[in-house]
Formats: sequence, C-alpha cells, structure tokens
Amino acid sequence: MAAADTTIIILAAGKGTRMRSDLAKVLHRAGGRPLLEHVVRVCQPLKAAQILVVVGHQAEVVGAVAEQLDAQVIVQQPQRGTGHALQVARRAIRRSTKIAIVLPGDAPLLRAETLAALLDTHRRGEAAATILSAELPDPTGYGRIVRDAEGRVQSIVEETSATPEQSAIREVNSSIYCFRLEKLWPCLNALRPKNAHHELYLTDAIAMLRERNERVLAQIAPDSNEIMGCNTRSHLADADRVLRARKAAELMDSGVTIYLPETVVIDPEVTADPDTVIEPGVQLLGKTRIGARCTIGTGSILNETRLDDDVVVMPHSNLHSSHLGARAQVGPFSRLRPGADIRAGAHIGNFVEVKKSVVHEGAKAMHLTYLGDASVGARSNLGAGTITCNYDGVAKYETIIGSGVFIGSDTALVAPVRIGDGAYIAAGSIITENVPADALALARSRQVNKLGWAKARRRQLAAEKKPPKRSKPRTSRRTSRRKPARRAKSKPRRR
Ligand code: UD1
Ligand code: CA
Repeated sequence: MAAADTTIIILAAGKGTRMRSDLAKVLHRAGGRPLLEHVVRVCQPLKAAQILVVVGHQAEVVGAVAEQLDAQVIVQQPQRGTGHALQVARRAIRRSTKIAIVLPGDAPLLRAETLAALLDTHRRGEAAATILSAELPDPTGYGRIVRDAEGRVQSIVEETSATPEQSAIREVNSSIYCFRLEKLWPCLNALRPKNAHHELYLTDAIAMLRERNERVLAQIAPDSNEIMGCNTRSHLADADRVLRARKAAELMDSGVTIYLPETVVIDPEVTADPDTVIEPGVQLLGKTRIGARCTIGTGSILNETRLDDDVVVMPHSNLHSSHLGARAQVGPFSRLRPGADIRAGAHIGNFVEVKKSVVHEGAKAMHLTYLGDASVGARSNLGAGTITCNYDGVAKYETIIGSGVFIGSDTALVAPVRIGDGAYIAAGSIITENVPADALALARSRQVNKLGWAKARRRQLAAEKKPPKRSKPRTSRRTSRRKPARRAKSKPRRR
C-alpha cells in the first residue's frame, strides 16, 4: 500500500496543560511507549512520501523521539493552534504530494487499518477533506461534527463554542483527517483566532471548505476507542489499559495462557512462545523474550530478559537483563540483576541475588545467597547464606567456583578466590585463599564443649532469685519496685 502522493503531518507541539506535568504531553507513556511513538508507528505502514512531526513545547526531546523513528521534525514556535501548526508545516511538504494526512500526537489507539481505510474513502470520494469521526456515549471535550439536513458535514464546532443543541451531538472529531492540499491552503490562510483560546483552529477550515462548495466527508470509526485523545492523566490510564489488553490478546491468540489478563503489563516488543503460562500481576518489560512452556509466577517482573524453553519463574521474582537456560528455575523471591546467566537446569531459590554471574548447568543456590562477579560450575551446590564478597570498597573481584563443589551454609567467599572442582567447604567458613580441587576447606574457629557449665549456671541463677533479707519495712511500693535485687557476681560467667 504505497502512498507516494501523500504527506503525513503529526501535530505534537502543544504543551498539554491538562496533564499538569513538566513533561510534554506526547512524551507521556501508555502501553510502554511515548504517545507520539504510537502515532508515528501507526503511520509507517502507509509508506507515505514523508512523515512530518510538528514540535514546539520541549522541541528537542520531542524531536529526538520523532527522529529516532525516521520522521522529519518541523518546529512551531510559538504554538498558535492546530491550524497554525499546519501553516508552519507547509514549507516542509514536498511539492509532489497532493494529499496530507493530519493526526494529533496524543491519539495512541488508532490502528493502521483504520487510517488506511480513511485514506481510501478520501480518494474514492474525491473529497477536499475527509474526517475520521466517532460516535461516543460521552462526547465531552471533543469537537462535534455538525451535519446538515441531508447528513452532509457542515462544520466542526469546538465544545467551548457549541450551542446546547450542538453539545448534544455525539459524533465527534478525532483530529485525524485527509486533506487535498490545493483545497486546504486557501482556507488555512483565511483562519482567524476568533475563539476562547485566541488560536487558529484547523477545525474551522472544515466550514470554510463547505462555504466554497467543496466535498467534505466524515467516516465513522468502527471502534470508537481508537480515536481517543489523551489530554489528562485519566485518559492516559484509559489508553494504557486498552494497549495492554491488545498486547495480552495478541499473545493469547498466539498460544500463551494469561490468567486475569487485565492485571498483567506486557510491553509491545515482548515475545512468548506457545504454552507459556503467565499468572496474574506479572510485568514483562522491554525486549523480554520467553520460550515455550515457561511459567511466570504471580507478581514477577521480567525486564530485558531472555528465557529458553520450560523455564519456571516462581512468584515475586525480579529479573533484569538476565538469561535463563532451558528448564532453569528461579524464585520465589529471587533477584537477578544485569548479567545473571542461569544455565540449563540450574536452580536459584528464595532471597538469592545474582549479579553478573554464570551459574552453570544443574548448579543450585536455593536460599539466602549473594553471587556477584562469580562463576558457579556445573552441579555445584551452594548452601544457605553463601556470600561472594566481591567488593572491597574500591574495586570488584571475581569468585570462580568449579564444578561439583559443595559449599556449606553461611560461607563467605572473599574475592578474588577460586574453588577447585569437587571441593568441599565447611559451613560457616570465611574463605580467603584458593581451595584446591577435591579438598575440604575449614575456615572457622574450633568448637569447645565445657561439660556441666549450663547446669551449674542454672543452679547459680536459682540461688540468686531467693529474696534478700529486708532490714527496714517497706516505705512505699514505688521505691521497692524501682530497686532491683542486687545480683551477686555469677561464678561461671565466661571462659
Ligand atoms: C482537538 C480538536 C478537536 C478534536 C480533538 C480530538 C482543534 C481545535 N480541536 O482538540 O476538535 O475533537 O482534538 O482529540 O483542533 N498542537 C500543535 N500545535 C498547536 C496546538 C496543538 O501541534 O499550536 C497539537 C497538540 O500537541 C496535540 C494536537 O495538536 O497533539 C491536538 O491539540 P489538543 O490541544 O490536544 O486539541 P484538543 O483540545 O484535544
Ligand atoms: Ca487532544
């Protein structure tokens, strides 16, 4: 569907006062992307000769988003209304193009098919302008489409200047239009700022075209949701909900099970293969890629993370820029930080944090462990509370653990340090030196048993509890309560 005679103009210069934000409105995010990005992407399949984005408020940042998407940036300074924005865009429009498609930068729900159908209607109807309209149960905030007795479009009336009868009209303007440029320019030149905001309204051009006996059509969008403009935070939340629901539906259509899909947040570029199960309250962010037959437990967040097939992420795990090999298991309550590479069949359990470390095939760290800048060999088992001490306050060091190693609970591995294949480390050790393969390392103080010590102490304490003889009668209850019985120095105190 090539449209070489068409220029697309996206209006994104406004401040978005109703957002009450320091951030330009079109940069607010819904469905995991800035509003403007949704609009540019929906235009791309049309293959128009050019996509122009009119920027003004926070021109640099907004322009950068547009340029990243290969759109051409036009600066409108100051911003004197939607009609003025088109006047400014005029100088950048290629002479070879005959049609302009105009869209607002704040309508992220439009679908490419709807836009293509609008252009088609415009061409086939040989219209000077074709408006995408929608019938809304509550038209508040939108310009109304005024039609004459024969049903022909007469004008668009903004809410602020509508009569009570016009306010009752439920067909609204989406701000998405096709114009035949040669017909539009004379009307744009004639716009006057005679309205509440003293702006040049593009919507006024519609009545002008009609006064010149030009053909103006309005095509009603089949799904009225699509035309929604995000003016407020509440609109933003509505748009986000719709975009998230669309993404969840797309994954479900491709064979992914999602329970309570209204509770999950999945970014647009996430992929998941069939028979993966996503439990309630999961967030899948960035370019996360999930293989087949995986389970993502409730409350887990996966960001920029890659899962091979048959991986289990148990509830409330937080995974960022990590990789999990086939059949790996993590969670509940695991934290994988950037560079965690959990190879096939390895297990990471509750309250285990892994950063920039490789845990090789079948290795296990099931409880309360920190692995940073480490390599854990295949089939090694790390006891509860194993900690790599990778940082000395200045620099980071590596811990290399061989394969088939057994590390007892509560072991601190002070990096840089190496543990050879098949070695054993006794529980409670503080390992500061390399351990050779197949050795047992003990690095803790030797235990001492003092026979009868506890019994003797109990006897002593019981003797102390006997009330001391009083010399004087009690004067008041308070003083007697304040003075604790003096304890005799206990004999078997410490060794
Ligand atoms: C506009 C329409 C209204 C329609 C509604 C649909 C006008 C006068 N009104 O109202 O009929 O129902 O959209 O959502 O057009 N912009 C610029 N330069 C400017 C002013 C605005 O680029 O000088 C951009 C804004 O950044 C925004 C878009 O134009 O992306 C629309 O402006 P906005 O203020 O949101 O218009 P609405 O009041 O929503
Ligand atoms: Ca708007």
